[in-house]
Amino acid sequence: MSDPHTEHFLTGRHFLQIPGPTNVPDRVLRAMDRPVPDHRGPEMPALVGELRENLRAVFKTDRSEPVLFPGSGTGGWEAALVNTLSPGDRVLSFQNGHFARLWAEVARAHGLVVDEVQLRWGDAVGADDVQSSLRGEHRAVMIVHNETSTGVTTDVAAVRGAIDASGHDPLLLVDTVSSLGSIDFRFDDWRVDVALTGTQKGLMLPPGTAVLCVNERARAASETNTMPRYFYDWRPVIADMSRGFFPYTPATLLLFGMREALRMLLEEGLENVFVRHARLAETTRRAVGAWDLALLCREPARSSNSLTAVSVDGQADADRIVRIGHERLNIALGVGLGPLKGKVFRIGHLGWLGELEVLATLAGVELALQRAGVSVALGSGVAAAQQYLKDSA
Ligand SMILES: Cc1ncc(COP(=O)(O)O)c(C=O)c1O
Repeated sequence: MSDPHTEHFLTGRHFLQIPGPTNVPDRVLRAMDRPVPDHRGPEMPALVGELRENLRAVFKTDRSEPVLFPGSGTGGWEAALVNTLSPGDRVLSFQNGHFARLWAEVARAHGLVVDEVQLRWGDAVGADDVQSSLRGEHRAVMIVHNETSTGVTTDVAAVRGAIDASGHDPLLLVDTVSSLGSIDFRFDDWRVDVALTGTQKGLMLPPGTAVLCVNERARAASETNTMPRYFYDWRPVIADMSRGFFPYTPATLLLFGMREALRMLLEEGLENVFVRHARLAETTRRAVGAWDLALLCREPARSSNSLTAVSVDGQADADRIVRIGHERLNIALGVGLGPLKGKVFRIGHLGWLGELEVLATLAGVELALQRAGVSVALGSGVAAAQQYLKDSA
């Protein structure tokens, strides 16, 4: 591939190491490489039936309903809100990053009254944050499980515990966009009412579909709430999906890819998938430690296993590091979002990837850091990463 902005000729496979979209496995690409089927035809019920069953397994729910909408995570945010709440309802959200902030914006756009607790970008939502801010009038609590802008994972079980301890009973709405299929998430155990994601991260698919999981309580709310909706009304989708169809034209080829991707996750075993991500994440953090750079996440137990946000604030322009990656090394790294622009860059390590890809990514980051003027010793991060991989094999 040649880059039109430089004289540099880029060869070899592109390294897509942003925190989503992620690399689509060849097996999934092949499953999508087929003629477009009739979405009202005889192939659909078996396909949709398997998707529902395997999505339930991935969300860890026995009894809740997976719901698919063409769209992305943003559509999932909107669907979660418009199906459960009414204009004027009060909801509680925690701004600990860019995506939590945007979801609160979606809520306000729909006439919800959002109590938005400001947290440091780089901290998780803690049980104490919930305890001190949740009140009886809150109809829903909105939590981003894994904040992709900062590389921080919130303990949803602890949030659930804090809600229970409060004696209040708001709906628990959880964004799992950069956690589902990479970091343990337990829809039933944590009594989540609505979870949402997009196809392009841990599910190892191209972008194009929002995936929700909806429990009985959330479905009951959608029968009485008054928020106007049409496309994102999940009632006809749940009804049609239970028969193997959709009330709209679905992204059919993506569904064939999804069948394959879910089979892959379940063949590897979800717990193994989580261990793989934890190990590759720790490998990355070891390299960052060896470079003597800071993680945005200060609490090690809350470090994300799907991406790492590295601060170079005061040392270099993070956007320049990302640009060097693009222009010289054929690697895509995540930029800093919102107020973090230029201060952090993000390394994605989620989805379909293994040790060598992470090592190569770290080698590329090391080179980009050097070229951007950050004083890191070449080989230092890679050596620390190799050592960890060897020791933890
Ligand atoms: C945690 C989180 N939530 C929501 C979104 C928005 O999703 P999308 O870009 O698919 O609309 C993203 C996107 O990266 C995300 O990381």
